[in-house]
Amino acid sequence: METGGEHMADRVEIFEVGPRDGLQNEKRMIATETKVALVDLLSGAGFRRIECASFVSPKWVPQMADSGDVLDRIARAPGVSYAALTPNMKGLERALAAGADEVAVFGAASEGFSRANINASVDEGLARFVPVCEAAREAGVPVRGYVSCVVECPFDGAVAPKDVARVVAALRDMGCYEVSLGDTIGRGTPEAVDAMLAVVLDEMAANRLAGHFHDTSGRALENVGVAIERGLRVFDAAVGGLGGCPYAPGAAGNVATEAVHDFVTAQGFETGLDAAILAEAGRLARSMRAA
Ligand code: HMG
Ligand code: MG
Repeated sequence: METGGEHMADRVEIFEVGPRDGLQNEKRMIATETKVALVDLLSGAGFRRIECASFVSPKWVPQMADSGDVLDRIARAPGVSYAALTPNMKGLERALAAGADEVAVFGAASEGFSRANINASVDEGLARFVPVCEAAREAGVPVRGYVSCVVECPFDGAVAPKDVARVVAALRDMGCYEVSLGDTIGRGTPEAVDAMLAVVLDEMAANRLAGHFHDTSGRALENVGVAIERGLRVFDAAVGGLGGCPYAPGAAGNVATEAVHDFVTAQGFETGLDAAILAEAGRLARSMRAA
């Protein structure tokens, strides 16, 4: 489509994960209505997908125990997919009952993190996801895949690109429509991210991959830049740069949605997002963080 003789700018989509990845790590319990207010604000910002629920064990991640209530109470905006994490069949059943529009299974490229995060080896985790993907397909619910520790693991150290590619291929084969590549501890260098992508792209096309960068070392935007060079156009981010992972010691928050928006907009991409609403959501998100 052309307007006024100009080509439409290329798009970069930001997949908002703040209400899930941003908040799951908060020690202080956040009221359901506050989470709902954040999601409702984000719903008007122009996102196509917002991850706002996680149907994991409430003993493991107490902050997400009210995910069903969050999905129940938000004002669903037309055209927005409200996403939820589902580590196993029990999680999928809860997500379907709560009306999640899409779900996500989450594996890892390293054994140490897989064990700490889902109490299973990498392959045991993948085996658990197969029936989740089958049941989701039967229910007509799309499944996204995550791979954690795509460059470095807090327990095992550097991760080989071929180990990431193997998990990406498994998630592809079980039907994940997109796979998000997580620098879980946010210590990836652009060189390491680029080397990882070079190998992973043999298994899955760039238009079915997403970048998920935490920002511990302050290099997440550079990593977004490297991934854009490799053809990726979807990036996970959290308003206000909230977050961390309870099972990744020392991991900082996700790269901030506002920062990714500014970074890609300066490169001529369109995000479809409203910067004023993002700023407001960022303020609300930061106010939710424990003082
Ligand atoms: P387990 O203890 O091995 O599981 O945990 P189990 O199957 O033996 O069940 C133990 C108990 O949990 C049972 O209850 C189950 O019913 C219950 P009990 O009989 O003791 O009363 N249970 C559940 N309850 C509610 N919903 C469920 C569920 N499943 C079991 N879905 C499990 C295994 C996977 C459940 C656990 O390890 C877990 O919940 N892990 C989640 C950890 C997590 O949420 N991590 C953060 C998200 S991942 C992330 O942030 C990374 C990402 O952002 C990408 C990146 O940055 O890299 C995505
Ligand atoms: Mg994460």
